[in-house]
Amino acid sequence: MCGIVGYCGTQAATPLLLAGLSRLEYRGYDSAGVALADETGLSVYKEAGRLSLLTARLRGGEGFSQTVGIGHTRWATHGKPTTANAHPHLSADGRFAVVHNGIIENEAELRRELLDADVTLRSETDTELIAQLLQREYQGNVWDALRRVTARLTGSFALGVLYAGEPETVYAARRQSPLVLGVGDGELFLASDMPAILPYTAQFVPLEDGETARLSADGYTIYGADGEPITRAVQEADWDAESAERGEYAHFMLKEIEEQPEALAATLLPHLTADGAVGDEVLPLTAETAQALRRVVLVGCGSAYHAGVVGRQVIERLAQLPAEAEIASEFRYRQPMLDRHTLVIFISQSGETADTLAALRESKRKGARTLSVVNVAGSTLAAESDAVLPTRAGPEIAVATTKAYTAQLAALYLVAIRLGALRGTMEDGEERRLTAELRTLPHHVRELLGTAERMHALARRQQALSDAYFIGRGTDYAAALEASLKLKEISYIHSEAYAAGELKHGTISLIEEGTFVAALACDETLLPKTLANVREVRARGAWVLLVTTDPDTADAADEVLVIPQVEPLFQASLSIVPLQLFGYYVALERGCDIDRPRNLAKSVTVE
Ligand code: F6R
Repeated sequence: MCGIVGYCGTQAATPLLLAGLSRLEYRGYDSAGVALADETGLSVYKEAGRLSLLTARLRGGEGFSQTVGIGHTRWATHGKPTTANAHPHLSADGRFAVVHNGIIENEAELRRELLDADVTLRSETDTELIAQLLQREYQGNVWDALRRVTARLTGSFALGVLYAGEPETVYAARRQSPLVLGVGDGELFLASDMPAILPYTAQFVPLEDGETARLSADGYTIYGADGEPITRAVQEADWDAESAERGEYAHFMLKEIEEQPEALAATLLPHLTADGAVGDEVLPLTAETAQALRRVVLVGCGSAYHAGVVGRQVIERLAQLPAEAEIASEFRYRQPMLDRHTLVIFISQSGETADTLAALRESKRKGARTLSVVNVAGSTLAAESDAVLPTRAGPEIAVATTKAYTAQLAALYLVAIRLGALRGTMEDGEERRLTAELRTLPHHVRELLGTAERMHALARRQQALSDAYFIGRGTDYAAALEASLKLKEISYIHSEAYAAGELKHGTISLIEEGTFVAALACDETLLPKTLANVREVRARGAWVLLVTTDPDTADAADEVLVIPQVEPLFQASLSIVPLQLFGYYVALERGCDIDRPRNLAKSVTVE
């Protein structure tokens, strides 16, 4: 979605803002702009379309001497993706410039008020209203005006504001939309996402909900919702700038698929003890509390929800607790029945997904115990949960998640084993056996990266397909959900995932000569059942790719991919890898914009 970058220091701001915005392109956007401040006032430059148009117009920043500015990439919500609607937006007197991520929900009411007061609006956006309100509320103190205006806004926002009368200062405010201050040497950055500023500093201070901040080259002050200054420790991002660069890879997605062995090792190994246990830091519950739990709910959106579908089975099996996976946008409005004997696990790469955050707040309100599995340190989800188990996948830039998803699976395995240990529900020696299996996952995933050529060849043959079906049972079904999403979101091929046994209750009527079906059958206890489903679809003409651990299935499908066998509960971590590659290569063969699929954004911070 939208991206914000801000700078104040001694260097020319424009090249830094443009470079920061280019590192936010992956979030998805349709226009871009910058506002610069100096003694002569504010200058705003914006363009609809690619950032490269703006960069070309500004000659990369050559000749722009301003050392203070804000920049934005916009993903249209209110009004079309035009230059007029692009941010920054100016107040009528040109003295306030505003960039904004999020959605103002009382926009209609504020617009009416301004129009009634004869303010001429130059865009269709909710953001321009903020700039106009700042002008009207200003009585000699920008910070006071900002506080008064933000108090009138309902909805979500991260704001960067310039005022012509204080050309050395950037103001910021946030509610439900991420914003961090990057602390450099004699310079400060503002960013909606760390990758924007990683080449300049790894030191950051996250802003929390309701806070405002004032930044200048001399330093910064953060004010709490009550207006009092706040002292907050500077944090250090453990991501390096290189990890957010594409390097020699054609696409971030391929790079991130290949980074999975390292992401898994970094997520798992710190929690596996020398004596074959999972460390107690994974889940800060006492044995008594864990034993008193009655239910576990795993909540997420998209792929994170798919990780939850795997997690629920592993938790149910090892911790002997009823476990459900829930889509955050459904869960939050369902008035879920929760209490202190429910553990709710929130799964999110960004830690900023609006529905997941709302579900967390609802769960806390009802007294449930909350744990977040999050990839971005300092994210809102991490800040607001009772406990956090970080996935250490590093920055994920491609819109379609790969390494963050497999790292989420790894984190959920750790939680399941720890819960099982605390509740005493595993057999003797089982924890040791399972942790030994976990240690093998990075190696097996690396081995599976070796299927790239074969998956590319298959993708060449199948790239013209119009429909695809992914089927499986148990954790194979969970992996099928994710494999199907991977294919459809980047290649625009219609694809569905089905529990294999469910197919003949309706969907099998869609199978005809040549229909592509990928069957996942890695759980040997369920293999005969899934093979029966494969026979059913083949009998109706389907072309079947079988992903299995059983080498004796060579004749069972049109193409059989035998993958390494591990503990069945962990098998989804392996079966997904060749299917991520398949999705990637199909999209490549179809000439799709793989890292930035149409209509999608990396982090969905609006409902
Ligand atoms: C699909 C994908 C999305 C995300 C979903 C949740 O490839 O990436 O489905 O999984 O938008 O995002 P996070 O994990 O940031 O909460």
